[in-house]
Amino acid sequence: MTNSTVSSNAAKYLALEEQYGAHNYHPLPVVLERGEGVYLYDVDGKQYFDFLSGYSAVNQGHCHPAIIEVLQKQAGKLTLTSRAFHNNLLGEYEKYITAYFGYDKVLPMNTGVEGGETAIKLARRWGYNVKGIPENQAKIIFAEGNFWGRTLAAISSSTDPSSFKGFGPYMPGFGLVPYNDLVALEEALKDTHVAAFMVEPIQGEAGVVIPDDGYLKTVRALCDKYNVLFIADEIQTGLARTGKMLACDHENVRPDILILGKALSGGTLPISAVLAENEIMMQILPGEHGSTYGGNPLACAVAIKSLEVLKTEKMVENAEKMGERLRQGLANLKSPFITTIRGKGLLNAIVIKHENPEASWDLCLHLKELGLLAKPTHGDKIRFAPPLIINEKQIDEAVAIIGAGLKLLA
Ligand SMILES: Cc1ncc(COP(=O)(O)O)c(C=O)c1O
Repeated sequence: MTNSTVSSNAAKYLALEEQYGAHNYHPLPVVLERGEGVYLYDVDGKQYFDFLSGYSAVNQGHCHPAIIEVLQKQAGKLTLTSRAFHNNLLGEYEKYITAYFGYDKVLPMNTGVEGGETAIKLARRWGYNVKGIPENQAKIIFAEGNFWGRTLAAISSSTDPSSFKGFGPYMPGFGLVPYNDLVALEEALKDTHVAAFMVEPIQGEAGVVIPDDGYLKTVRALCDKYNVLFIADEIQTGLARTGKMLACDHENVRPDILILGKALSGGTLPISAVLAENEIMMQILPGEHGSTYGGNPLACAVAIKSLEVLKTEKMVENAEKMGERLRQGLANLKSPFITTIRGKGLLNAIVIKHENPEASWDLCLHLKELGLLAKPTHGDKIRFAPPLIINEKQIDEAVAIIGAGLKLLA
């Protein structure tokens, strides 16, 4: 494995985490203290391109000035009331986000995984109250390779042993079909106890796995045919990341339940949202679901601004153009170690082939030394997902760094 240089200054921070923190992550040995736009800076002042964007939470760029201004202003005024009382921003935010995405109602939560849990609870309720599924028999179908978080429900639908192994027993009522397999999906949906199919339009954590053209359109049609809800987990793919506002927009399909998170706050706070029509949303009554922080005024103010700048700063268009340029630039490197370059907009991945099984980790260490931060996902895949404000010159510089890093694998 490649040795990575860590300054004595950085080593202090690594030692603290090693001793006092749970060892549930395996981060690259870099200690960051500042971010601005597409750049991160470590504790020694070294600058890096951020090619992970906090797992696509920082689409708008680090410390986006307009988002930070709203955050600071609202933080000095009112941050949390709980939903025991009303606040003056919740309704405004609900109106804004429902108009933005064209749904009747929104249910605000915090983390992405809570958004997923909320969508599943809504689907089960709809299954019992509207579809007429017998009590306690509703099923939710997921795609193999999915990732929607770390709660017991989320890992119960996971096919990744490092997520689920040793944490059973698991949530009943969940089924799996292979991703991108419409025949298997149709078979599963024929079961009249199925309330919903929950799917990522592109599987992010699995390594930016893109289904065949037309997959989402047929998913929509099959869900209609069998009276099953189509839940789109757009927590990673949504909010301009793939060169459309939603990844479902690539096929002009509209899910029944839309889950958003991550970039809904531009990387400042955990904010998630579940959007649906009244027929689904109104199945949950007062006291039946919620969260202390969900819909707090600080989050509402930040989310409105985070959504606004995606449009005013044309991040959809930029993600589309810069994504093309990035993939073309990577292809032009003609590296023998890259077997696949795939992605849409600025959600991209390369697949590394090398005799050394640690090569993708080593490449990320080389890239760190050269001034670019990225992280392997599932062994041989490296995701390249910079903030959506990146420009042509920066893409070209980043590609040159990646080219130099690849040469060091030789
Ligand atoms: C598609 C998808 N859904 C859900 C989640 C979970 O979000 P969170 O980590 O905020 O709970 C993630 C996180 O990576 C994700 O990629």
